[in-house]
Amino acid sequence: MKNQNIYILAIESSCDDTSAAVMSNDTTLSNVVATQKIHEEYGGVVPELASRAHQQNIVPVIHQALAKAKIGKNQLSAIAFTRGPGLMGSLLVGTSFAKSMALGLEIPLIEVNHMQAHILAHFIKEEDFNAPSFPFLALTISGGHTQIVVVRDYFDMEILGETLDDAVGEAFDKTAKIIGLPYPGGPLVDKLAQKGDAHAFPFPKPKVKGLNFSFSGLKTSILYFIQRETAKDPDFIKDHKEDICASIQYTIIEILMGKLKKAVKETGIKQIAIGGGVSANSGIREALRNAESELGWTTYIPKFEYCTDNAAMIGIVGYLKYREGKFSDQSISAKARYVIP
Ligand code: KG4
Ligand code: ZN
Repeated sequence: MKNQNIYILAIESSCDDTSAAVMSNDTTLSNVVATQKIHEEYGGVVPELASRAHQQNIVPVIHQALAKAKIGKNQLSAIAFTRGPGLMGSLLVGTSFAKSMALGLEIPLIEVNHMQAHILAHFIKEEDFNAPSFPFLALTISGGHTQIVVVRDYFDMEILGETLDDAVGEAFDKTAKIIGLPYPGGPLVDKLAQKGDAHAFPFPKPKVKGLNFSFSGLKTSILYFIQRETAKDPDFIKDHKEDICASIQYTIIEILMGKLKKAVKETGIKQIAIGGGVSANSGIREALRNAESELGWTTYIPKFEYCTDNAAMIGIVGYLKYREGKFSDQSISAKARYVIP
């Protein structure tokens, strides 16, 4: 009898997480992530170290994903991998591995755009989670990306706006560094912000046309503010840490929500799906909950393991492409700059 299930092995290696997942159709059987701790001491991702760590991690991570899923290599229907965007040295590890494995097993190879995967992660089937229906707006916010995308169908997406400089996660991490918090500072800013006054220190919001974002000016104004205040009072940061964090977070959320509201107004679409590591932030979650009751939006946030970089999101795209016979040729190569097609 013919096996009805499609088993996809998915590989993600675009930045500093080595991840492998096994999907049975649109359901996750395993989703293993090896996070590279090495970057913490440098205060940011070091590309050379990232590719080396991917090379060390990729075989054990794939072994573990297959073992957890209880799927043998010979049961796999296809291999999906992140082609880009990301760090070239990191992408090459996953791309080469995926190509070799698909060749060896004589099964199809499927390339996946990482940004499209963050969005389509909403279609991974999970109990108690509903997928958005088309059309919807996707806000992808992480350490590497900040985008508003209108999603008309699985493979019909259009970028409405994106950051012109730093990503929103970088804005959190870089300002956290200014006040002496360890990398990545985003979750710590969030934690401290909950005990602070969001209106203690007003920071200027950038004036950026359309639906694009800019966060580098905010970082600079926070730096100058801190320099000014600590010159007057060396204990300024220590004595006001919670208020500073609350004010930073408030400004960033205001910027994000301002653009989202503009996108809703322009498109008439009130279904909002968010993804990326920053969707863990309590401020954005609260702002979205308020928009549901006050503005009639419907918001979608996937399980946190599907928000941060992971291979299950690559696997769901692999499955959706497999159904449509969208396979890649063995001549394919990684693409560091890869806009959503
Ligand atoms: O998606 P992700 O794990 O990796 C990529 O950057 O692709 O996102 C990590 C980013 C970091 O910048 C981190 O500081 C931020 O997400 N982050 C947060 C929170 N949790 C993670 N930022 C603000 N508040 C949080 N609770
Ligand atoms: Zn990502």
